[in-house]
Amino acid sequence: METSVWQVSPDSMDQAVIDAAAAMIRRGGLVAFPTETVYGLGADVFQPKAVASIFAAKGRPADNPLIAHIAAPEQVYDLAREVPDTAKCLMEHFWGGPLTMILPKKHTIPDEVTAGLDTVGIRMPSHSVANALIRAAGTPIAAPSANRSGSPSPTTAEHCIADLLGRVDAILDGGTAMIGVESTVVDLSVPVPTILRPGAISAEDMADVLGCPVRVGGLEAHAPKCPGMKYTHYSPSATVICFENAALVQPFVQAHQDEVVCVMALSDAASSVSAPLVYDAGRDSTDYAARLFYLLRKADEDGASIVLAQLPSAQGIGLAVRNRLQKSSGGNMLESRE
Ligand code: TXA
Ligand code: MG
Repeated sequence: METSVWQVSPDSMDQAVIDAAAAMIRRGGLVAFPTETVYGLGADVFQPKAVASIFAAKGRPADNPLIAHIAAPEQVYDLAREVPDTAKCLMEHFWGGPLTMILPKKHTIPDEVTAGLDTVGIRMPSHSVANALIRAAGTPIAAPSANRSGSPSPTTAEHCIADLLGRVDAILDGGTAMIGVESTVVDLSVPVPTILRPGAISAEDMADVLGCPVRVGGLEAHAPKCPGMKYTHYSPSATVICFENAALVQPFVQAHQDEVVCVMALSDAASSVSAPLVYDAGRDSTDYAARLFYLLRKADEDGASIVLAQLPSAQGIGLAVRNRLQKSSGGNMLESRE
Protein backbone atom coordinates (compact mmCIF):
# COMPACT_ATOMS: atom_id res chain seq x y z
CA MET A 1 0.00 0.00 0.00
CA GLU A 2 1.27 3.46 -0.82
CA THR A 3 1.21 5.85 2.13
CA SER A 4 0.75 9.58 1.50
CA VAL A 5 2.63 11.80 3.95
CA TRP A 6 1.11 15.27 4.17
CA GLN A 7 2.30 18.32 6.13
CA VAL A 8 -0.41 20.20 7.96
CA SER A 9 0.37 23.09 10.27
CA PRO A 10 -1.82 23.22 13.40
CA ASP A 11 -1.92 27.05 13.18
CA SER A 12 -2.76 27.59 9.52
CA MET A 13 -4.46 24.41 8.48
CA ASP A 14 -4.59 23.43 4.83
CA GLN A 15 -8.27 22.49 4.40
CA ALA A 16 -7.54 20.65 1.12
CA VAL A 17 -5.26 18.25 3.01
CA ILE A 18 -7.80 17.77 5.80
CA ASP A 19 -10.55 17.11 3.23
CA ALA A 20 -8.41 14.56 1.37
CA ALA A 21 -7.63 12.74 4.62
CA ALA A 22 -11.30 12.87 5.69
CA ALA A 23 -12.30 11.37 2.33
CA MET A 24 -9.92 8.47 2.99
CA ILE A 25 -11.56 7.88 6.37
CA ARG A 26 -15.02 7.89 4.77
CA ARG A 27 -13.82 5.39 2.13
CA GLY A 28 -12.77 3.00 4.91
CA GLY A 29 -9.08 3.95 4.90
CA LEU A 30 -6.57 4.48 7.72
CA VAL A 31 -5.07 7.88 8.53
CA ALA A 32 -2.45 8.66 11.20
CA PHE A 33 -2.96 12.11 12.71
CA PRO A 34 -1.53 14.27 15.50
CA THR A 35 -3.29 14.85 18.80
CA GLU A 36 -2.12 16.79 21.87
CA THR A 37 -1.10 13.50 23.57
CA VAL A 38 0.41 11.20 20.90
CA TYR A 39 -0.34 10.44 17.24
CA GLY A 40 -3.43 8.30 16.60
CA LEU A 41 -4.24 5.85 13.78
CA GLY A 42 -7.81 6.56 12.75
CA ALA A 43 -10.70 4.85 10.98
CA ASP A 44 -14.46 5.48 10.80
CA VAL A 45 -15.99 4.12 14.05
CA PHE A 46 -19.01 2.81 12.15
CA GLN A 47 -17.12 0.77 9.50
CA PRO A 48 -16.21 -2.61 11.05
CA LYS A 49 -13.85 -3.58 8.21
CA ALA A 50 -11.94 -0.32 8.45
CA VAL A 51 -11.66 -0.69 12.23
CA ALA A 52 -10.45 -4.28 11.83
CA SER A 53 -7.71 -3.06 9.49
CA ILE A 54 -6.32 -0.86 12.30
CA PHE A 55 -5.56 -4.04 14.26
CA ALA A 56 -3.86 -5.60 11.23
CA ALA A 57 -1.73 -2.50 10.51
CA LYS A 58 -0.55 -2.26 14.13
CA GLY A 59 -0.28 -5.98 14.88
CA ARG A 60 -2.61 -5.25 17.80
CA PRO A 61 -4.29 -8.05 19.78
CA ALA A 62 -8.01 -8.12 18.89
CA ASP A 63 -9.13 -8.05 22.54
CA ASN A 64 -7.75 -4.54 23.12
CA PRO A 65 -10.50 -1.95 22.57
CA LEU A 66 -10.05 1.40 20.79
CA ILE A 67 -10.95 4.95 21.82
CA ALA A 68 -13.64 6.77 19.80
CA HIS A 69 -12.57 10.37 19.10
CA ILE A 70 -15.16 13.11 18.68
CA ALA A 71 -14.96 16.81 17.77
CA ALA A 72 -17.99 18.18 19.66
CA PRO A 73 -19.30 17.22 23.13
CA GLU A 74 -22.80 16.41 21.75
CA GLN A 75 -21.34 13.52 19.74
CA VAL A 76 -21.00 11.62 23.01
CA TYR A 77 -24.74 10.89 22.73
CA ASP A 78 -24.17 9.12 19.39
CA LEU A 79 -21.87 6.66 21.15
CA ALA A 80 -22.90 6.29 24.81
CA ARG A 81 -26.28 4.95 25.92
CA GLU A 82 -25.97 6.60 29.33
CA VAL A 83 -24.12 9.81 30.17
CA PRO A 84 -24.02 10.22 33.97
CA ASP A 85 -23.65 13.61 35.64
CA THR A 86 -20.03 12.80 36.49
CA ALA A 87 -19.32 12.47 32.76
CA LYS A 88 -21.08 15.75 31.96
CA CYS A 89 -19.04 17.53 34.60
CA LEU A 90 -15.73 16.06 33.40
CA MET A 91 -16.58 16.84 29.75
CA GLU A 92 -17.23 20.44 30.66
CA HIS A 93 -13.95 20.84 32.49
CA PHE A 94 -11.51 18.71 30.55
CA TRP A 95 -12.70 18.43 26.90
CA GLY A 96 -11.12 19.04 24.43
CA GLY A 97 -8.21 17.53 26.19
CA PRO A 98 -6.34 14.41 27.31
CA LEU A 99 -9.23 12.61 29.04
CA THR A 100 -10.92 9.40 27.84
CA MET A 101 -14.16 8.42 29.54
CA ILE A 102 -15.42 4.82 29.61
CA LEU A 103 -19.21 4.79 29.30
CA PRO A 104 -21.91 2.19 28.52
CA LYS A 105 -21.93 1.87 24.74
CA LYS A 106 -24.75 2.13 22.23
CA HIS A 107 -25.40 -1.11 20.33
CA THR A 108 -24.72 0.72 17.05
CA ILE A 109 -20.98 0.71 17.80
CA PRO A 110 -19.33 -2.28 16.12
CA ASP A 111 -17.78 -4.91 18.39
CA GLU A 112 -14.50 -4.38 16.52
CA VAL A 113 -14.16 -0.99 18.25
CA THR A 114 -14.85 -2.17 21.79
CA ALA A 115 -13.46 -5.71 21.55
CA GLY A 116 -16.91 -6.97 22.46
CA LEU A 117 -17.14 -5.00 25.73
CA ASP A 118 -20.39 -3.33 26.77
CA THR A 119 -18.56 -0.03 27.24
CA VAL A 120 -16.77 2.41 24.94
CA GLY A 121 -13.89 4.83 25.53
CA ILE A 122 -14.63 8.35 24.26
CA ARG A 123 -12.34 11.33 23.97
CA MET A 124 -12.54 14.80 22.44
CA PRO A 125 -8.99 16.00 21.67
CA SER A 126 -7.90 19.64 21.86
CA HIS A 127 -5.57 19.42 18.85
CA SER A 128 -6.78 21.56 15.93
CA VAL A 129 -5.72 19.03 13.27
CA ALA A 130 -7.42 16.10 15.05
CA ASN A 131 -10.62 18.06 15.49
CA ALA A 132 -10.65 19.34 11.90
CA LEU A 133 -10.18 15.78 10.62
CA ILE A 134 -13.02 14.40 12.76
CA ARG A 135 -15.32 17.25 11.73
CA ALA A 136 -14.52 16.87 8.03
CA ALA A 137 -14.96 13.09 8.19
CA GLY A 138 -18.44 13.65 9.63
CA THR A 139 -18.08 10.62 11.90
CA PRO A 140 -16.34 9.74 15.17
CA ILE A 141 -12.89 8.29 14.53
CA ALA A 142 -11.69 5.13 16.28
CA ALA A 143 -7.99 5.50 16.98
CA PRO A 144 -5.33 3.79 19.05
CA SER A 145 -1.84 5.26 19.23
CA ALA A 146 -0.19 5.10 15.77
CA ASN A 147 2.70 2.76 16.66
CA ARG A 148 3.33 -0.92 15.91
CA SER A 149 1.93 -2.80 18.88
CA GLY A 150 4.50 -3.02 21.70
CA SER A 151 6.59 0.01 20.56
CA PRO A 152 6.63 3.37 22.31
CA SER A 153 3.72 5.58 21.21
CA PRO A 154 4.58 8.06 18.42
CA THR A 155 4.99 11.73 19.29
CA THR A 156 6.14 12.80 15.82
CA ALA A 157 5.17 11.96 12.24
CA GLU A 158 8.65 10.44 11.81
CA HIS A 159 7.75 7.83 14.45
CA CYS A 160 4.55 7.00 12.53
CA ILE A 161 6.53 6.74 9.30
CA ALA A 162 9.04 4.40 10.96
CA ASP A 163 6.27 2.11 12.22
CA LEU A 164 3.50 2.34 9.63
CA LEU A 165 4.79 3.41 6.19
CA GLY A 166 3.24 1.09 3.59
CA ARG A 167 0.63 -0.13 6.09
CA VAL A 168 -1.75 2.87 6.18
CA ASP A 169 -3.28 5.25 3.61
CA ALA A 170 -1.96 8.56 4.95
CA ILE A 171 0.09 10.17 7.69
CA LEU A 172 -0.67 13.79 8.60
CA ASP A 173 2.48 15.51 9.83
CA GLY A 174 1.38 18.21 12.27
CA GLY A 175 4.59 18.48 14.27
CA THR A 176 5.36 17.18 17.75
CA ALA A 177 2.56 16.05 20.06
CA MET A 178 2.74 18.42 23.03
CA ILE A 179 1.91 16.30 26.08
CA GLY A 180 3.77 13.18 25.02
CA VAL A 181 1.91 10.50 27.01
CA GLU A 182 -1.53 9.11 26.19
CA SER A 183 -4.76 10.39 27.71
CA THR A 184 -5.98 9.56 31.19
CA VAL A 185 -8.55 6.75 30.91
CA VAL A 186 -11.30 7.03 33.56
CA ASP A 187 -14.03 4.42 33.97
CA LEU A 188 -17.41 6.05 34.61
CA SER A 189 -19.41 2.85 34.11
CA VAL A 190 -18.76 1.91 37.76
CA PRO A 191 -20.05 3.56 40.98
CA VAL A 192 -16.73 5.23 41.87
CA PRO A 193 -14.90 6.92 38.97
CA THR A 194 -11.74 4.88 38.50
CA ILE A 195 -8.57 5.73 36.58
CA LEU A 196 -7.54 2.76 34.42
CA ARG A 197 -4.55 4.53 32.84
CA PRO A 198 -2.90 7.64 34.32
CA GLY A 199 -2.27 10.64 32.07
CA ALA A 200 -1.97 14.43 32.18
CA ILE A 201 -5.28 14.81 34.05
CA SER A 202 -4.83 13.41 37.55
CA ALA A 203 -7.22 11.88 40.07
CA GLU A 204 -6.95 15.10 42.12
CA ASP A 205 -7.80 17.25 39.07
CA MET A 206 -10.99 15.24 38.58
CA ALA A 207 -11.89 14.91 42.27
CA ASP A 208 -11.61 18.71 42.60
CA VAL A 209 -14.26 19.41 40.00
CA LEU A 210 -16.46 16.41 40.85
CA GLY A 211 -16.41 16.99 44.60
CA CYS A 212 -16.08 13.23 45.13
CA PRO A 213 -13.17 10.80 45.30
CA VAL A 214 -11.62 9.28 42.17
CA ARG A 215 -9.93 5.91 42.54
CA VAL A 216 -6.61 5.13 40.91
CA GLY A 217 -6.72 1.57 39.60
CA GLY A 218 -5.08 -0.09 36.65
CA LEU A 219 -1.52 0.29 37.85
CA GLU A 220 -1.12 -3.45 38.47
CA ALA A 221 0.63 -5.36 35.71
CA HIS A 222 -2.49 -7.42 34.97
CA ALA A 223 -5.32 -4.95 35.46
CA PRO A 224 -8.37 -6.81 34.18
CA LYS A 225 -10.51 -3.79 33.28
CA CYS A 226 -8.24 -1.94 30.87
CA PRO A 227 -7.40 -4.75 28.45
CA GLY A 228 -4.53 -2.85 26.86
CA MET A 229 -2.57 -2.62 30.08
CA LYS A 230 -1.77 -6.33 30.23
CA TYR A 231 0.41 -6.36 27.11
CA THR A 232 4.09 -5.49 26.80
CA HIS A 233 4.24 -1.81 26.04
CA TYR A 234 6.51 1.06 25.21
CA SER A 235 9.47 -1.28 24.74
CA PRO A 236 12.60 -0.25 22.90
CA SER A 237 15.01 -3.04 21.89
CA ALA A 238 17.32 -2.01 24.73
CA THR A 239 16.72 -3.42 28.22
CA VAL A 240 15.04 -0.78 30.38
CA ILE A 241 15.81 -0.60 34.11
CA CYS A 242 14.17 2.06 36.30
CA PHE A 243 15.75 3.82 39.26
CA GLU A 244 14.79 6.21 42.01
CA ASN A 245 18.04 6.30 43.96
CA ALA A 246 20.45 8.29 41.74
CA ALA A 247 23.43 7.20 43.87
CA LEU A 248 23.17 3.69 42.35
CA VAL A 249 23.62 4.89 38.76
CA GLN A 250 27.35 5.61 38.55
CA PRO A 251 28.40 2.29 40.17
CA PHE A 252 26.11 0.45 37.72
CA VAL A 253 27.65 2.25 34.72
CA GLN A 254 31.14 1.42 36.07
CA ALA A 255 30.26 -2.23 36.46
CA HIS A 256 28.87 -2.44 32.88
CA GLN A 257 31.67 -0.88 30.83
CA ASP A 258 31.19 -3.46 28.07
CA GLU A 259 27.59 -2.29 27.56
CA VAL A 260 26.27 0.86 25.89
CA VAL A 261 24.47 2.20 28.95
CA CYS A 262 22.10 5.12 28.40
CA VAL A 263 21.04 7.16 31.44
CA MET A 264 17.74 9.01 31.05
CA ALA A 265 17.06 11.38 33.93
CA LEU A 266 15.74 14.76 35.02
CA SER A 267 18.26 17.60 34.52
CA ASP A 268 19.59 17.54 38.09
CA ALA A 269 20.51 13.85 38.02
CA ALA A 270 21.53 13.87 34.33
CA SER A 271 24.06 16.66 34.86
CA SER A 272 25.98 14.71 37.50
CA VAL A 273 26.24 11.38 35.65
CA SER A 274 28.90 10.14 33.28
CA ALA A 275 27.84 7.35 30.90
CA PRO A 276 28.19 6.45 27.18
CA LEU A 277 24.79 8.10 26.57
CA VAL A 278 23.12 10.64 28.86
CA TYR A 279 19.65 11.98 27.98
CA ASP A 280 18.35 15.02 29.82
CA ALA A 281 14.60 14.46 30.34
CA GLY A 282 14.03 18.08 31.35
CA ARG A 283 13.34 19.99 34.56
CA ASP A 284 10.11 18.37 35.68
CA SER A 285 7.59 15.60 34.97
CA THR A 286 5.84 17.68 32.30
CA ASP A 287 9.11 17.96 30.34
CA TYR A 288 9.80 14.28 30.98
CA ALA A 289 6.37 13.25 29.62
CA ALA A 290 6.92 15.30 26.47
CA ARG A 291 10.31 13.66 25.80
CA LEU A 292 9.77 10.12 27.12
CA PHE A 293 8.74 8.20 24.00
CA TYR A 294 11.05 10.20 21.77
CA LEU A 295 14.01 9.34 24.04
CA LEU A 296 13.08 5.64 24.28
CA ARG A 297 13.15 5.47 20.47
CA LYS A 298 16.36 7.51 20.31
CA ALA A 299 18.06 5.05 22.68
CA ASP A 300 17.62 2.34 20.04
CA GLU A 301 18.84 4.63 17.25
CA ASP A 302 21.93 5.49 19.30
CA GLY A 303 22.67 1.80 19.91
CA ALA A 304 22.00 1.66 23.65
CA SER A 305 21.93 -1.86 25.09
CA ILE A 306 20.66 -0.80 28.54
CA VAL A 307 18.55 2.24 29.42
CA LEU A 308 18.63 3.36 33.05
CA ALA A 309 15.53 5.53 33.42
CA GLN A 310 14.77 7.72 36.41
CA LEU A 311 11.26 7.45 37.84
CA PRO A 312 9.94 10.97 38.58
CA SER A 313 7.75 11.63 41.62
CA ALA A 314 4.18 10.32 41.39
CA GLN A 315 2.57 13.77 41.51
CA GLY A 316 0.39 14.92 38.57
CA ILE A 317 1.64 13.70 35.20
CA GLY A 318 4.62 12.12 36.99
CA LEU A 319 2.36 9.13 37.77
CA ALA A 320 1.81 8.62 34.02
CA VAL A 321 5.55 8.78 33.30
CA ARG A 322 6.22 6.24 36.07
CA ASN A 323 3.46 3.96 34.76
CA ARG A 324 4.85 3.98 31.18
CA LEU A 325 8.41 3.41 32.41
CA GLN A 326 7.32 0.56 34.66
CA LYS A 327 5.57 -1.09 31.67
CA SER A 328 8.53 -0.43 29.43
CA SER A 329 10.90 -2.07 31.93
CA GLY A 330 8.58 -4.92 32.85
CA GLY A 331 8.96 -3.76 36.45
CA ASN A 332 12.77 -4.00 36.42
CA MET A 333 14.25 -1.74 39.16
CA LEU A 334 17.84 -0.77 39.93
CA GLU A 335 18.27 -1.61 43.60
CA SER A 336 21.20 -1.75 45.94
CA ARG A 337 22.53 -5.25 46.60
CA GLU A 338 22.62 -5.03 50.43
O1 TXA B 1 -4.13 9.84 24.14
C1 TXA B 1 -4.66 8.80 23.76
O2 TXA B 1 -5.51 8.20 24.43
C2 TXA B 1 -4.24 8.26 22.38
C3 TXA B 1 -4.65 9.28 21.33
C4 TXA B 1 -4.42 8.76 19.93
O3 TXA B 1 -5.96 9.68 21.53
N1 TXA B 1 -4.86 6.98 22.14
C5 TXA B 1 -4.44 5.85 22.78
O4 TXA B 1 -5.10 4.71 22.37
O5 TXA B 1 -3.57 5.82 23.60
P1 TXA B 1 -4.63 3.24 22.74
O6 TXA B 1 -5.52 2.34 21.97
O7 TXA B 1 -3.19 3.10 22.49
O8 TXA B 1 -4.98 3.07 24.25
C6 TXA B 1 -6.33 2.99 24.66
C7 TXA B 1 -6.41 2.36 26.04
C8 TXA B 1 -6.05 0.90 26.01
O9 TXA B 1 -5.28 0.58 27.15
C9 TXA B 1 -7.43 0.22 26.05
O10 TXA B 1 -7.37 -1.05 26.64
C10 TXA B 1 -8.24 1.20 26.89
O11 TXA B 1 -7.76 2.47 26.50
N2 TXA B 1 -9.67 1.12 26.58
C11 TXA B 1 -10.30 1.48 25.44
N3 TXA B 1 -11.62 1.21 25.51
C12 TXA B 1 -11.84 0.67 26.72
C13 TXA B 1 -13.00 0.16 27.41
N4 TXA B 1 -14.20 0.15 26.83
N5 TXA B 1 -12.83 -0.31 28.66
C14 TXA B 1 -11.61 -0.30 29.26
N6 TXA B 1 -10.49 0.15 28.66
C15 TXA B 1 -10.59 0.63 27.42
MG1 MG C 1 -1.28 2.48 22.47
